Amino acid sequence: MAHDAAPLSNAQTRDIEALLHPYTNAVTHRRVGPHLIESGEGVYVYDDKGRKFIEGLAGLWCCGLGFGDAELIEAAREQLAKLPYYHLFGGRTHEPAIELAEKIKELYPIPMARVFFANSGSEANDTQIKLIWYMMNALGKPAKKKIISRHRGYHGVTLVTASLTGLALNHGSFDLPFDYVKHTTCPHFWRAGEAGETETEFSARMARDLEDLILAEGPDTVAAFIAEPVMGAGGVIVPPEGYFAAINPVLAKYDVLFIADEVICGFGRTGNWFGTETFGMAATSVSMAKQITGGYVPLSAVAMNAEMVEAIEAESNRYPALGHGYTYSGHPLGCAVGVKAIEIYQRRDIVGHVRKVAPLFQARIRSFADHPLVGEARGVGLMGALEVSPDPANAATFAEPGKVGGKLAAELLEHGVIMRAMGDVLGICPPMIITEDEIEELFAPMEKCLDATYHWAKAEGHLR
Ligand SMILES: Cc1ncc(COP(=O)(O)O)c(C=O)c1O
Repeated sequence: MAHDAAPLSNAQTRDIEALLHPYTNAVTHRRVGPHLIESGEGVYVYDDKGRKFIEGLAGLWCCGLGFGDAELIEAAREQLAKLPYYHLFGGRTHEPAIELAEKIKELYPIPMARVFFANSGSEANDTQIKLIWYMMNALGKPAKKKIISRHRGYHGVTLVTASLTGLALNHGSFDLPFDYVKHTTCPHFWRAGEAGETETEFSARMARDLEDLILAEGPDTVAAFIAEPVMGAGGVIVPPEGYFAAINPVLAKYDVLFIADEVICGFGRTGNWFGTETFGMAATSVSMAKQITGGYVPLSAVAMNAEMVEAIEAESNRYPALGHGYTYSGHPLGCAVGVKAIEIYQRRDIVGHVRKVAPLFQARIRSFADHPLVGEARGVGLMGALEVSPDPANAATFAEPGKVGGKLAAELLEHGVIMRAMGDVLGICPPMIITEDEIEELFAPMEKCLDATYHWAKAEGHLR
């Protein structure tokens, strides 16, 4: 909330003195203080003042089953009582890890041979790069190590994955990206499409850009390409018509592996189990996290195809063991909750539910397309965005990025709606269990908040 004027509470002061917050301006934070969230139920969370908010971003795109799901909580309780910890090192195993790996193999639309567990999306993608390098060494291709990512792609914040992430915020003052990571063009048709160009032509151009980059770097030096089905944290950018159909053959032509980053899109978000299906991605390996446990327990997974596994197995045999793994790889608590979450997605037909309510959700987003502050209203399934612009007709950007988007998110918060401003893109990604009535509630204050933000932006000189 806007705490500017109000004196800080005891908990707020303790927070300021004790915590360094991720993705928070540390200087502003000292002045305004944190917003304390205390509890959650269904699609709602409650703060320390008892105020109710509808969670329009499912936490951080992860609480697909909402808050307080009794079955997930019980699965966690049972697993903690039975086996609160064990690891998978040295060939040890446990039933929840085996079962979750089997489920992932069964559900992913492209055959995958093995699953490796980690704790976060970043660790999953980091693991991908390490295993791909390991594989290339096994195949006798030590020069084939570069990874191509996309501008505005989001793949995490470890040293390698922050390099993959195509956002300046994640590079500045961190001495990143590493130079073995190359970024190709962002397929945002609204922003980068040329006059008279169709979406399909634009997609073909994006594929040519990728091919040009591979050729410029040398195909023998490029190991893999990584992409999210829908670019999430970079601004909910839905691939244009024919995009992956144009990308897939370029990767195949130059023997470049394709890592699908399903960290947000996996488990129903786009109206299929995986975005891979929705957009026809010819993935050779895949990263999953977030909704894999409904966000209740940190867990991520990398699933890889047989070719990759064969090379990794052979390479590991040159050493005493595969030299990679986390203390919490396949933590039984995460795996048990993951198995339960998937069982719930199946039993309650969450994918069917997403398909049923998505038309209303998308229609509500697009109903704001003509507002003078809205540049583009976009989305797919139960994820979407409103991008604000000082000159929507020309897809213009604000001179001071993020101010107007931030103001819109703050206005919505005052009206009991949590959405996330990523610069001047308002991301909307509610729990997948949201009902049609709750979708109406989510968007009810939008017009008013857009108007208030518009008048504020005008008064503050953000509109030309
Ligand atoms: C597509 C994608 N990949 C990777 C990550 C990184 O995941 P984590 O924050 O769990 O490290 C995210 C996080 O939002 C993501 O959206």
